[in-house]
Amino acid sequence: MSEFSDTTAPAALVLVAAGSGTRLGAGIPKALVEIEGRSLLQHTLDRAVIVDALKQIVVVVPPSDDRLAAQAAAYGPRIGIVSGGTSRAESVYAGLQKVSAGIGHILVHDAARAFTPTCSYEKVLRALEDETVQAVIPVLPVTDTISVVDPPHEGRLQEVKCTPDRSTLRAVQTPQGFDADVLRRAHRYLQDADAAQFEAVTDDASLVQRLGYPVHVVPGHPDALKVTHPKDLQQAHRLASQSAPTGVSPMPEPIIPRVGNAIDVHAVSDDPHRPMWLAGLHFPEDIGLAGHSDGDAVAHAACDALFSAAGIGDLGTHFGVDRPEFAGASGIVLLAEAARIVRAAGFEIGNVTVQFVGRRPRFATRREEANAVLSRAADASVTVSATTSDGLGYEGEGAGITAYATALVYPRD
Ligand code: CTP
Ligand code: MG
Repeated sequence: MSEFSDTTAPAALVLVAAGSGTRLGAGIPKALVEIEGRSLLQHTLDRAVIVDALKQIVVVVPPSDDRLAAQAAAYGPRIGIVSGGTSRAESVYAGLQKVSAGIGHILVHDAARAFTPTCSYEKVLRALEDETVQAVIPVLPVTDTISVVDPPHEGRLQEVKCTPDRSTLRAVQTPQGFDADVLRRAHRYLQDADAAQFEAVTDDASLVQRLGYPVHVVPGHPDALKVTHPKDLQQAHRLASQSAPTGVSPMPEPIIPRVGNAIDVHAVSDDPHRPMWLAGLHFPEDIGLAGHSDGDAVAHAACDALFSAAGIGDLGTHFGVDRPEFAGASGIVLLAEAARIVRAAGFEIGNVTVQFVGRRPRFATRREEANAVLSRAADASVTVSATTSDGLGYEGEGAGITAYATALVYPRD
């Protein structure tokens, strides 16, 4: 469901789908025409029902055909159904009679604009939240120069009367949004009109504007194409297969990364000749760490964090007694193998970061070297930092080192 709706006042949608589609010439009501297996009405409703703020959706259907009513009813209790009139304006009027009294905002939308994305409804509703705004329409700039011509005359070519500045012209779409009372008033005003006048009303905002209310604009959407002529069907097929009912282009599945933590502690060896290996480097001035391998606590913690992130056990699982070839292996060799195992389990490595706590070795001047050696081994970014424990504990006494590691991995597709 759309997140936007939580903050929005209750609104209703009048969805006009009662037209016959003369220009399309499909031989069935236009809203019944199927694109990629779903009718134009269904495509419209697939997108509209995502908008939670639309508490009521009144679908206006042709009186002569009950198939659209059946399709609409399948969308559940929010749907109301009413028969339309001879003109669009009369169909909207019929729909308005069905909108509940408590509804503050009414959107009117053409089912012929079946691929209008959810964000267009939301934009209009959001604009209506401003109490000074009583009418909102989505518009697009026009690309052609547009001229006003005089009425057709028998026996002579029509003439251009004027050509407005293109930069001030906009193509008007639906859904159009209104304060409910204002829209009702505008349609009541029309009720004495004759058939030709009804037919001449192609949208609702023009009626509202005629009553003197300002009509505000928000950006429209190119996907809100009105399926009108047979040539529009090709684009409709493209939109049906490309646009998701959420109104945005289908997004690839998000990649969910996974993190893993690990800690490794090694005592400083009793053997004053034991070489010190840490973070893949040899520190000749220092006494090494105790342990069955080179005691590289940083590399070991990095391995364990990788296994933890991938959820595939730990150092003991992978370098235990059943893999004797790794007994005594250097930290770098273990890290390279851990990275290989994690990748073989279907993950790619984002990065690994390790911090060790210890009095020795002095690390700052060799940090870049360590990062490079470890990153080469893992074939991914591995970065190391060092700190002391302010003289506290075994690290402060120089009796041992603790390494804390975090690894981030993500599933390969
Ligand atoms: N509409 C309606 N009742 C009518 C006429 C039109 O509900 N008597 C609706 C159509 O179903 C459409 C929208 O108004 O969703 C815009 O109308 P349009 O695109 O002109 O559709 P049609 O009138 O069906 O097409 P045509 O003019 O080619 O006959
Ligand atoms: Mg029409």
